[in-house]
Amino acid sequence: MTDKKIFIINGSPRKNWNTDKMCQSFADGAKSKGVSVETIYLYDLNFKGCRSCFACKLKGGKNFSRCAYPDDLTPILDKISKCDGLILASPIYFGNVTAEMRAFVERLLFPFFQYDKNFSSTAPKRMETAIIYTMNISEQFLKENPLGQRTKNAMESIETFVELVLKKPQIIYAFDTYQFNDYEKYASSAFDPVHKAKQRDEQFPKYLQKAYDEGVNMAKRILCRGIMQDSL
Ligand SMILES: Cc1cc2nc3c(=O)[nH]c(=O)nc-3n(C[C@H](O)[C@H](O)[C@H](O)COP(=O)(O)O)c2cc1C
Repeated sequence: MTDKKIFIINGSPRKNWNTDKMCQSFADGAKSKGVSVETIYLYDLNFKGCRSCFACKLKGGKNFSRCAYPDDLTPILDKISKCDGLILASPIYFGNVTAEMRAFVERLLFPFFQYDKNFSSTAPKRMETAIIYTMNISEQFLKENPLGQRTKNAMESIETFVELVLKKPQIIYAFDTYQFNDYEKYASSAFDPVHKAKQRDEQFPKYLQKAYDEGVNMAKRILCRGIMQDSL
């Protein structure tokens, strides 16, 4: 193992389901290159979104550019700000990331997002970033349906701010996911259980492979950066 570290922030309430499996696959890829990975499950933590206290913007304040609001997230935010890679992973709920992920993003980015003319960033490190989205809709629906377009706009909004404050994220999708353990048991006539099972068995493994490959790629970029910094 190297001294490089990636944090995966999982914004899904379900362990070992679609989002978590994508996270595990990404982690396996990164670890295969010797980068250590820690996964944080937001639903295990007690926290809320930004309280608009502005302690992070108070000139000369001891918590300038830092979210000091005391809850389960505070120590995690401090750790994350110095990491080498950050992955945000979330299911899509009503056309957006989950409320927990949204709250996390507010807490993570706002202290570094400066109210100056350029909206400059005071993030101590511009680490590698990626976002994993899992969702019920298909890739075609996301691209072509007006409802899908709204989802796309919401995703782009988060991606824009992650890029502005940290670094442009790699985007990893899992579409048309398998949502229940037995489609016959749940009221869900919109979905064809046979198609969903086929997706789970044939398409989802391809998404997992993509997540693994992106884990490998991120680890390589991190290690390459490290070598370049050492040689300066
Ligand atoms: C409350 C709720 C809202 C959802 N809204 C959407 C949605 O707007 N678009 C979509 O494609 N999928 C939606 N889904 C489906 C999930 O995004 C999808 O099944 C996801 O892969 C679940 O991730 P998980 O297995 O990690 O829980 C919704 C699921 C729930 C529970």
